[in-house]
Amino acid sequence: TPARFTLDSAFGIGTVHPRLYGSFMEHLGRCVYSGLYEPGHPAADPAGLRQDVLALIRELGVTTVRYPGGNFVSGYRWEDTVGPRKERPARLDLAWKTTETNEFGLGEFMDFCRKTGTEPMMAVNLGTRGVEDALRLLEYSNHPGGTELSDLRIAHGGGEPYGIKMWCLGNEMDGPWQIGHKTAEEYGRLAAETARAMRMIEPDLELVACGSSGSGMSTFAAWEATVLEAAYDLVDHVSLHAYYEETDGDRDSFLASAVDMEHFIESVVATCDHVRARLKATKRINLSFDEWNVWYQSRPNPHHVEEWQQAPRLLEDVYTVTDAVVFGSLLIALLRHADRVTAASLAQLVNVIAPIMTEPGGPAWRQTTFFPFAQASRYGRGRVLRVEVDGPTYPTARFGDVPLLHATAVTDDETGAVTVFTVNRSQSEALPLEIDLRGVDAHTVEEHLVLSDADPDARNTLDHPDRVTPHPATGTLVKDGVLRAGLEPLSWNMIRLT
Ligand code: AHR
Repeated sequence: TPARFTLDSAFGIGTVHPRLYGSFMEHLGRCVYSGLYEPGHPAADPAGLRQDVLALIRELGVTTVRYPGGNFVSGYRWEDTVGPRKERPARLDLAWKTTETNEFGLGEFMDFCRKTGTEPMMAVNLGTRGVEDALRLLEYSNHPGGTELSDLRIAHGGGEPYGIKMWCLGNEMDGPWQIGHKTAEEYGRLAAETARAMRMIEPDLELVACGSSGSGMSTFAAWEATVLEAAYDLVDHVSLHAYYEETDGDRDSFLASAVDMEHFIESVVATCDHVRARLKATKRINLSFDEWNVWYQSRPNPHHVEEWQQAPRLLEDVYTVTDAVVFGSLLIALLRHADRVTAASLAQLVNVIAPIMTEPGGPAWRQTTFFPFAQASRYGRGRVLRVEVDGPTYPTARFGDVPLLHATAVTDDETGAVTVFTVNRSQSEALPLEIDLRGVDAHTVEEHLVLSDADPDARNTLDHPDRVTPHPATGTLVKDGVLRAGLEPLSWNMIRLT
């Protein structure tokens, strides 16, 4: 049986915010050092940024970059990272038990943002620090000049204010692993007071309060409600983090990970709106899904790593075609909630659970997950249309019966073009797809690209960097206002219509 849906441009969900295609760069493992920053590499520019990596980041279509962590930010001392490199201290990074040389710091990050055309999304340290330090960092970054800290930026060669608009108020403060971890009451107060003071410098900042570090936390939802009760008027977003992996060989459930992600999003929306009702507020809090990905957290690190090493190989997951299909489905989940998810960050960007890998002194290449992200960022712009799938389901141990087809569609209201993103979750069967195009003007198939492989565990590696790439589908056509396509088993698909 085919999976079917109807597209009608009258039924929209919301406009995709460009920040939905953000990413995340933490001082963790080789994300920065010997990832995007490697002085002495043949492709490095005078600032030490690898231009081959920057080119891939541009191709990926990343819009924002969250920085400098992650767990790392809860011990972050920004002043160690600015000024002459020779004077910057090396420090213990307690979050990842590594040594941070501070060779790459705030100014280098801003240079990176300029060169990649990305927007910085800066996090303040609410673990070991608090209101005063957030104010000092904001003044250093954004104040034009004439004060000690803004003049210091200028003296450091920072010139024009950085103009950082979006700020995360700490990271995963509900997690016991977090340096300076807090109760919801403690964090809610601190987030509110930090936000209030930061807005005294710049009223129109966009501020993100930490939600739970995962929907499995015992305090989930209560945490969000308590924090928002304290900070509702002072913040714009609440954060969500989720990572998925295949466990116990249960691939069918893994392929349905987006069921969990959509449930998580809807639960946080409900919690935000519950607080809105209680406070009789008019404004809505939006969602910043600022960490999401596939991450094999439960697998041991295959690389030998000593404590307090510099830039060790940590979290260097190598993604399969199956992972990319799940990853694509997570992107579909975000798009399907584009009315409330107005920012998201793929965690992370280079080497660390990343779409881009590098070898020190060697090449950079695309992981399987690179392709769905690049396609969605390029063509998934405009208005998300409502997609109600009618079609076959399959049984899963974790989520019960789940639709084989996961889909979303985005229309460009200026041109009328429509791009459909779909995943076929079946491991063995092709899935016939029928889309009734009665409510849209786009009836010509421009392109149908597929990511799938006869080997579901195929991956791109240093030796075979182009083993997996998208290929065109055959036989996709529109007749009598209905698009018909065959979706390969275990596949991610992008169908562009004009
Ligand atoms: O992205 C890796 C880590 O996952 C981040 O540092 C932390 O915020 C999360 O637990």
